[in-house]
Amino acid sequence: MEEVKISFLGFGNVGTGAYKIIRDNGKDILLSEGVGLKVAKILVRDINKKRDIELEHSILTDKFEEIANDPEISIVAEFMGGVEPAKDYIVSCLMNKKTVVTANKELIAKHGLELQTVARENGVGLYYEASVAGGVPVIKILAESLQANKIGEIMGIINGTTNYILTKMSEEGRDFSDVLSEAQKLGFAEPDPTADIEGFDAMYKICILSSMAFHKRVDVNNIYREGITKITTEDIEYGRELGFAIRLLAIAKKRNNTVEVRVHPTFIPVDHPLAAVRHSFNAVFLKGDAVGNIMLYGKGAGDLPTGSAIVSDIITAYHQRSKHRYISFYNDEGSAEKLKFNDDWESEFFVRLTVKDKPGVLAKIAGYFGKYGVSIASVIQKDRGKDAVPLIFVTHLAKELSMKKAISDIAKEEDVLMVENIIPVER
Ligand SMILES: NC(=O)c1ccc[n+]([C@@H]2O[C@H](COP(=O)([O-])OP(=O)(O)OC[C@H]3O[C@@H](n4cnc5c(N)ncnc54)[C@H](OP(=O)(O)O)[C@@H]3O)[C@@H](O)[C@H]2O)c1
Repeated sequence: MEEVKISFLGFGNVGTGAYKIIRDNGKDILLSEGVGLKVAKILVRDINKKRDIELEHSILTDKFEEIANDPEISIVAEFMGGVEPAKDYIVSCLMNKKTVVTANKELIAKHGLELQTVARENGVGLYYEASVAGGVPVIKILAESLQANKIGEIMGIINGTTNYILTKMSEEGRDFSDVLSEAQKLGFAEPDPTADIEGFDAMYKICILSSMAFHKRVDVNNIYREGITKITTEDIEYGRELGFAIRLLAIAKKRNNTVEVRVHPTFIPVDHPLAAVRHSFNAVFLKGDAVGNIMLYGKGAGDLPTGSAIVSDIITAYHQRSKHRYISFYNDEGSAEKLKFNDDWESEFFVRLTVKDKPGVLAKIAGYFGKYGVSIASVIQKDRGKDAVPLIFVTHLAKELSMKKAISDIAKEEDVLMVENIIPVER
């Protein structure tokens, strides 16, 4: 049996969860995996802060050098968050021949390839299972269980906060702001919820998943992103009449040499497997050419679920210490295959307008759609006889840029009082 000395960078939610797992399951891990895990040093901002966990005070440090310069520490787990100083610290650990395990999605999405290159050059590993969907082991499944496949599509509910908010809005008929403040009080949403509700968190995660699945390094700046702040109970109600449920989906598709990646609120049929994912649960739906459809489901955040991914990565890193795995990217410099990034993606669209109740309005709007090649699949007209009435369309597959042009013309039409919302529909 071998003992591995580990260091933590950070000791908040995720760090505490990982520590508890090593403390409580360490003996079983020793028996089943043949390795003893010893947390030797933990870097925090404030070593005197009161912490809800018993531990030797001397294990805490606020000096990163104590970890970087300790040759006995072979694995470092990072869960400080943010890009700097986490990136600097990780590079320094890798250059000091320490394998790194991280939960930091923003860092891996923006600098994953660069960090992997440093790891490879130094013969150590870089593992990041915890960076996507917390306890749901989607990274390992993609890297180690689906290599035989060409992955054509990923659709994920990979942000628990927004799924919680949309579930509550859908099931209880409550407004976005009302549910958001309740989620903040219950600890399901951060005091500053921007990263979740504006889709940044899901964007980082789908950036990592799509880069891995398609072996194309996807630039976060190429990902279309829209949050859930404009979703109203009216949208949800009309969607329900059409047989749809609403989710914030992270979507990545590859067709031949073209890749598209986007995050936005999406209507899906109520019988789609992702429509069954409620509250703060996560799920990733994958399509492989050989395996068909696969869905992974579980807790996407929290101390123990995320800690589970961290400790499992530490064990994997230990087993692979003489030969770590690295992800390959076809569009690395020097690669033969060039993949194109598609920013004019195609979808069906739900369009909700408020219009004047006059004869001919429907035909005029249909004309604008027709001008840009957008064809209409269904229409709902309600509340006839009032001055302002809702008019809802669902289109057939249409290009996003064509939709934008049609909507821009429709918004200028004098009988259209308001373009209320446009929501893509996936099946
Ligand atoms: N929370 C989740 O469920 C979850 C799930 C998946 C991934 N993640 C990712 O995991 C990471 C950490 O999340 P968390 O929720 O555990 O965060 P957190 O509770 O805010 O903990 C952050 C920890 O890092 C330490 N820290 C921050 N900046 C530091 C610095 N400059 N120098 C030294 N220590 C520093 C803090 O020290 P003090 O304790 O002294 O303040 C704290 O212990 C983030 O990248 C997050 O995106 C989180």
